[in-house]
Amino acid sequence: MCGIIGAVSHRNVVPVLLDSLGILEYRGYDSSGIAVINSEGVMDRERKVGKVNQLAHSLSNGSTISGTTGIGHTRWATHGEVSEANAHPLAFKEKIAVVCNGIIENHEELRAQHLREGCEYNSGTDTEVIVHEIHRFQESGLSLLEAVKGTVEKLTGSFAFAVLSITNPEKIIVAKNGSSLLIGFGENETFIASDTLALAKIAKRMISLEDGDIAEISDQSETVIFDRSGSIVQRPAESIPINAKNIELGTYAHYMQKEIFEQAAAVSSTLKDRVTSDSVVENEVLTGKATEILDRVEAVRILACGTSFYAGLIAKFWFEALGIPCETEIASEFRYRKPVIANNTLLIAISQSGETADTLAALEYASELGCRYTLAICNSPASKITRMVDLVLHTHAGPEISVASTKAFSTQLVSLLLLMILLARRKGLTAQEESEVVHEIRALPSRIDAALQMDRKIHSLAKQFVDKEHTLMLGRGTHYPIALEGALKLKEISYIHADAYPAGELKHGPLALIDANVPTVAVAPNNHLLTKLKNNIQEVKTRGGKLFVFSDAGDSIKSDELIEVIHVIQSGPYTSPIIHVIPLQLLAYHVAVMRGEDVDNPRNLAKSVTVE
Ligand code: G6P
Repeated sequence: MCGIIGAVSHRNVVPVLLDSLGILEYRGYDSSGIAVINSEGVMDRERKVGKVNQLAHSLSNGSTISGTTGIGHTRWATHGEVSEANAHPLAFKEKIAVVCNGIIENHEELRAQHLREGCEYNSGTDTEVIVHEIHRFQESGLSLLEAVKGTVEKLTGSFAFAVLSITNPEKIIVAKNGSSLLIGFGENETFIASDTLALAKIAKRMISLEDGDIAEISDQSETVIFDRSGSIVQRPAESIPINAKNIELGTYAHYMQKEIFEQAAAVSSTLKDRVTSDSVVENEVLTGKATEILDRVEAVRILACGTSFYAGLIAKFWFEALGIPCETEIASEFRYRKPVIANNTLLIAISQSGETADTLAALEYASELGCRYTLAICNSPASKITRMVDLVLHTHAGPEISVASTKAFSTQLVSLLLLMILLARRKGLTAQEESEVVHEIRALPSRIDAALQMDRKIHSLAKQFVDKEHTLMLGRGTHYPIALEGALKLKEISYIHADAYPAGELKHGPLALIDANVPTVAVAPNNHLLTKLKNNIQEVKTRGGKLFVFSDAGDSIKSDELIEVIHVIQSGPYTSPIIHVIPLQLLAYHVAVMRGEDVDNPRNLAKSVTVE
């Protein structure tokens, strides 16, 4: 989850490290730090608890450090509480400094051995064992590179780390096993980073390291990569797949607000070239062996976490309605069971980041269980998941920076609709039926823009939630996952406890919670379940509960003293969930802003969950 950056340059790298840490902040923001080797060959290190601007503030207020080689880190604490002592870079007597992302699983055993042999530990982190191992190998006469190689052999777990040492002041050594690590090449300077976003502004090309790789980063032409066997390897360099402009906040107050408002454009980019006026263009949606695989698919299994999981829950309705058996599961649950996967099942992993540890592990597990066909729906072009699957369906939402996912969700749903059509065609979907769905999908960007016009209305509605502690969200069918997503958004960023229920389940428990202090939100599109939902709304009202009903313009639900109806622009059956999620995203956003919360970086969370 943590963010790593490093630079070897001819200029002072401190401003670059700080700027990149700001970009990487969404990966973790408990504390941050940098270490550089100065012009006298001395290591300077600065760490601070809190967000990166605390570190930047401290560096601009006196402790002026500079150097042409340096590493930086922004932390999401796993082992060791949030404190300056546990902030990275961890160092040995300002001789060796290490930044690490991931978990060293055998750290307790190594630490115990080091302590028995007289090492002094300064932190409660698992990473510090790396520092001591490298130091011990160097003491025995090994070069820094050999010391890192020896250290990696002793570590178990999933990790990526970077090492700075005064013995090699113009180099950074990196090692990757499990967690992502990239090398970026700029103008006469080389960088390392845990993801592409951090490289977008500073590098032109990049290399994704493979598991087992160790690399000696120096001046561009001299960077060397060794594979697991120790042989020098050439890894392919590619252009940075992100436009630096897309990571600017622009005129918005928060990234979440920007990303909510970018949804029409994100959906348009995801559809670009993939649909004609009445059909889906298969080879623009998926490349490679797509046709061969799709021809054989008889069932679908979806695995994902968080918001991506909710997209998968909605898709289950779509696939099943077209006769394609589908199960959607939380990746972290799937991987610890013995699921039975039918022959010719297409396993779909949905992940915005392409890095979520549980989703990746579940995907691996599914392959071990004999699942032959895998597909990832992913928003991060160079991420790990894209290299693990047979087929990739890229959502072109652009970088999503706010921890709470919004535009990635809408584009995941659109991608799932495209995939549904490709599979349904093989199960007898007629050209006429396909054309109807495609027309509905093509109308989506303008409908999203119309739904965003609700912003002022939702802003004023948010005032009724600001002082609440609990909220209940209800939905039915494809809109139950929308209620789940609305509740997740409210929990994540405003810290209001929100529970989502399929409305039919009210009587089996949650009705007991209803009173004047627990507002209920009902997602009530005008579909075949509306009559049933209206009954559930009455059940809440009869018990004195205040209801906020998001209904399609033109339906018959009326506002009264306990029911406030908020009209949402009417949409077709497939795209309605994408329209109905928008007011709930806006509601969570405005409530969080009104409560003064850190919208983009909510407490205890991080965007890329790269640990189990
Ligand atoms: C974290 C993020 C969520 C995201 C989930 C799954 O919890 O905060 O926004 O939905 O991870 O992430 P993925 O990148 O796999 O979609």
